[in-house]
Amino acid sequence: MSKKVVLITGASSGFGKFTALELIKKGYVVYGAARRIEHMKELETTGGFAIKMDVTSDESVEAGVQQIIKEQGQIDALVNNAGFGSYGFVETTNIDHMKRMFEVNVWGTVRVSQYVLPHMRKQGKGSIVNLSSIVGKVSTAFLGFYAASKHAVEALSDAMRQEVGRFGINVSIIEPGAFSTGFDGVVLDELKLIKAGEAYQPILDSFIPYFKKMYENAPTPEPVVKAIISAIEKSKPKTRYSVGVDAKGGIMMKGMLGDRTFDNIMLGQMKMK
Ligand SMILES: NC(=O)c1ccc[n+]([C@@H]2O[C@H](COP(=O)([O-])OP(=O)(O)OC[C@H]3O[C@@H](n4cnc5c(N)ncnc54)[C@H](OP(=O)(O)O)[C@@H]3O)[C@@H](O)[C@H]2O)c1
Repeated sequence: MSKKVVLITGASSGFGKFTALELIKKGYVVYGAARRIEHMKELETTGGFAIKMDVTSDESVEAGVQQIIKEQGQIDALVNNAGFGSYGFVETTNIDHMKRMFEVNVWGTVRVSQYVLPHMRKQGKGSIVNLSSIVGKVSTAFLGFYAASKHAVEALSDAMRQEVGRFGINVSIIEPGAFSTGFDGVVLDELKLIKAGEAYQPILDSFIPYFKKMYENAPTPEPVVKAIISAIEKSKPKTRYSVGVDAKGGIMMKGMLGDRTFDNIMLGQMKMK
């Protein structure tokens, strides 16, 4: 049997990088895609292939997928992992600024899937794994835009699962809590670009130390990598994998408590009361 071919977006860092390295170790043919191709040297030296890809560009995604088909003739699994967090208050955040994030997290996921799905349908099999977040299930103050992008990923993934199951294609969603990757650094860089406004600045000022501390103590990504690999390897994977104590607890709490109690607990925890 030929080796399974996997495309992972966002493989230059974090979950994508570690999943790529683990799959290479397991004998998969791994194509890692990201804009910073220079950050995928380890992936190449361990036997994977690096593709320079911006998931916001049709041209770039089409060229990447074509290259894999030309070289391998198939794509067995796609991990839509490329994404980032940009936070802001609903009243004072520039809409165009947030459109950039939706372009990657939401339309990037759709775009790469649209180029890969015709090949999976022809093969009559495949797995798609989409990276959501705990905030694909709950939303909190200041994280509304990022949460909206991940809620959209959840909705599209549920629809996709129902649409492509008949072609032998599995779709799974990964919902991590906070894990130590490059994610927090990008969030903090993005925060430098927003204006909270006078009324919200004190809330932002108390949120930042909370956020930094949360990520200083965040666990390493192995459990997320394990969930992604399980979603790829199982013939009947779970539809969603919540990973991390905070993700499991947060989603359960939201289900059990009413909105106002949940709001109060979250505002207290995030030092926003
Ligand atoms: N870490 C967490 O706490 C956490 C929690 C829940 C969900 N997530 C989600 O997990 C996924 C992976 O994030 P991570 O934590 O591993 O963060 P990360 O270390 O910052 O990695 C993000 C990856 O996305 C890629 N990316 C960003 N914009 C891109 C674009 N336009 N085109 C192609 N690739 C792009 C980056 O590559 P380049 O910059 O080189 O292009 C990088 O490889 C994201 O979808 C994130 O929202 C993370």
